[in-house]
Amino acid sequence: MAEQRSQWGSRLGFVLAAAGSAVGLGNIWKFPYITGENGGGLFVLIYLVCIALVGIPIMMAEIMIGRAAQKQPVVAFSTLQGKKTAWAGVGWLGIIAGFVILSYYIVVAGWAMDFTLKSVVNITEPIHDTAEVEGSVYRVTTSTADMETMLIQRQAEKDLKYPVRRIKNKAKPSVWDDYDRYETALDKSEVVDVVKREMLAEVWTSESADTLTALGQTDLPDPNVSEEARNAYRDARNRLFEDNAFAKNIDRAESLMREVEILRKKQLLAVRVLYGEKTELEIRDEAEAVHRRAVIFQKVDDTFGAVAVDGWTSAFWSAIFMLLVILIVAGGISSGIERTCRILMPTLIFLILVMVIYGAFKDGFGEALSFVFKPDPSKLKASGVLEALGHAFFTLSLGMGAMITYGSYQKSKTGIVGQSVMIAILDTAIALLACMMIFPIIFSYDQEAAAGPGLVFKSMPLAFAEIGKGGMLLAILFFGLLVFAAITSAISLLEVVASYFIDQLGWARRKAAWTLGGIILVFGLGSAFASDPDFVLSSWQPSYGTDFFTTIDYLASNWLLPMGGLFIALYVGWGMPKRLREAEMTDVAPALVAGWLLLVRFIAPALVIVVLLQKVGVLDADELFHAWFNRPD
Ligand code: PHE
Repeated sequence: MAEQRSQWGSRLGFVLAAAGSAVGLGNIWKFPYITGENGGGLFVLIYLVCIALVGIPIMMAEIMIGRAAQKQPVVAFSTLQGKKTAWAGVGWLGIIAGFVILSYYIVVAGWAMDFTLKSVVNITEPIHDTAEVEGSVYRVTTSTADMETMLIQRQAEKDLKYPVRRIKNKAKPSVWDDYDRYETALDKSEVVDVVKREMLAEVWTSESADTLTALGQTDLPDPNVSEEARNAYRDARNRLFEDNAFAKNIDRAESLMREVEILRKKQLLAVRVLYGEKTELEIRDEAEAVHRRAVIFQKVDDTFGAVAVDGWTSAFWSAIFMLLVILIVAGGISSGIERTCRILMPTLIFLILVMVIYGAFKDGFGEALSFVFKPDPSKLKASGVLEALGHAFFTLSLGMGAMITYGSYQKSKTGIVGQSVMIAILDTAIALLACMMIFPIIFSYDQEAAAGPGLVFKSMPLAFAEIGKGGMLLAILFFGLLVFAAITSAISLLEVVASYFIDQLGWARRKAAWTLGGIILVFGLGSAFASDPDFVLSSWQPSYGTDFFTTIDYLASNWLLPMGGLFIALYVGWGMPKRLREAEMTDVAPALVAGWLLLVRFIAPALVIVVLLQKVGVLDADELFHAWFNRPD
C-alpha cells in the first residue's frame, strides 16, 4: 500500500500545497472580522504570539508525524508506536473537526462565488451611479444649515469614539455588566428616562442648551419630571440597590457616564466652532460626499444581507463549491493543486497589495493602521485570547491533522523548520494585509469594525462601488481569487476526512471523495440556512445566543483545534519514539531542536491549557487583563 500512495511532485509542491491549505478564508474573511470584534491591536498581538510560540512548533510536529508515518492521521500514531494506541483518538478528533469546519466553510466560499457572479454582472457600478444621482438630489434639496448639523454630529461622534472608550475603561468590565443589567431592569420599569434627564440637567448648562437643540439633541433635560415618576424611579433604584456591591458598581458607572456626557457636550461645541470657519461651499461638498457614501453603504449592506438570509441561494452555491472540491480531491492530490497554487497565490497577494495601496489614500487609513497595530488597552478585550489561539490553529490548518496528511505525501527528511516558518510567515503576512485592505475602507465609511462574519462582503464592495468603472474588474478578480484561496484550503479539509476511508478502509479515492463530500454538504445545509427566517434553524439564535453557523465555527476552531493541537504537541514531545523524532531533524541545529522541544513539551501545552481553563470559567481574562493594564484610580 505504501508504495502506491500518491506523492507531491517536488519539495516545492509540498510547500505550495501546505501554504494553499493555510491561506484561505481564514486569512481574508475570518481574521479581519474577529480582529474587528475583539478590538484590534492587542488581539493581533496575542495572535502573533500564538503563531510564534504555538503555531510554528505544532506545524513542525504535524509535518514530522506525517512524514515519519507516511500515513493519514488516525493510522499515523499506531504506525509510529508500532502498536495500537490511544493517540489515534487525536486522528479521530481531527476527522470530526475537518467534517465540521468544511460544512460551514463551503457556505462562506459559496457567498464568495455568489459575489463573483454578482461582480461579473456588474452590481457595483450601478450602485456607484445611483449614489452620484442621490448625492446631487441631496445637494439641491438640503439646506446648508441641515448639512452642517449633520456634519457636526458625525464629526463629534467620531472624535468621541476613543475618549469615551477610555473613560469607560476606568471601570472593570464587571461594572459595565452590572450597569447593563441595571439599565435593562430600569428600562422595563420605564423610569430610566427620569434619571437620564436628571443627569443631563446637571451636565448641560442652560446657555449651551440652545446650541444643542439647534444640533438636533432632543433628549434635553426636562425640568418637569413629575413627582410620581421621581418616586417610582427611586423605588426601583432602591430595590436594585439592596445589594451593596451592586449599588457601588452602579454608582461608579453612573459617574463615568456623567463624564461621557460632559465630554460629548464639549466636543459638540468644539466641532461647531471648527465648522464655523468653513465656507458654505466646503460644507456642501463635504456633506454631499458623506451622503453619497451613506447611499453606497446602504446598498452594499442590503446586498450582503439579502444573501445571508437566503438559505436556498447559500445552499446552491455551497453545493457548486463542494462539487469543485470533490472533483479535485477525487482526481488525486498532486496534479492540480501544485500548479494552480503556483500561479494564483502570487496573483492574490498582488491584488491584496493593490487594494492596500488604494486604502492608503483613504482618510480611514491612519485609523486602520492604529486599530490593527496599536495594542491600546482601552480597546482591550482579553476574552479574545481563546479566539486568538483558536484562530492561530485555524489559519495555519493545524490541530486536525491536515498537515499530518499533507506531510505524509512527502518523502523528504529535511527542511522541516524552513518549511514551517515560511508557511507561517506567508500566512500571517496575508492575514495582516487583508486587515490593512479592509479597515481603511470601513473607517472611511464611518462603519464599525465589529461588523461580524459579513465584514469582507460588506466592506470590499464599498471600495469597488466608489471606484465606479474599474470597480467591476477588481471585484471579479478579488472575489474570484477568494474562491480560489478557499478551494485550496477546502481540499485539505476533505482530504483529511477522505484519506481515512482511502488508507484504512481501502475505498477508492473517487468513492471516498464523493460519499464524504456529499454527507458534509448535507450537514452544511444547517449553516446555509442558519440565518434564513423561513427555516427552523433560525430559532437556534434566540435559544443559543448566536446562529448555528457561528456556534459550530466557534466550537470547531476554539475547542476542537486547540485540543487536537495540544495532544499533537504532547505526542511529539513525550510520546513519539526519540529515534523517529530525531530522524526527521537531522538537518536542524541542536540548539534549535532543544528550543523546539521546550516549546512542544511545556510552553505550547501550557498556553493551550491556560486558555482553555479561562474559557471554562476558572479564570476571567477580561478582569485580569483590566487589572494589569489599567491602574485603578
Ligand atoms: N487554514 C484554512 C484557512 O485559513 C482553513 C483550514 C483549517 C484548512 C483547518 C484546513 C484545516 O482558511
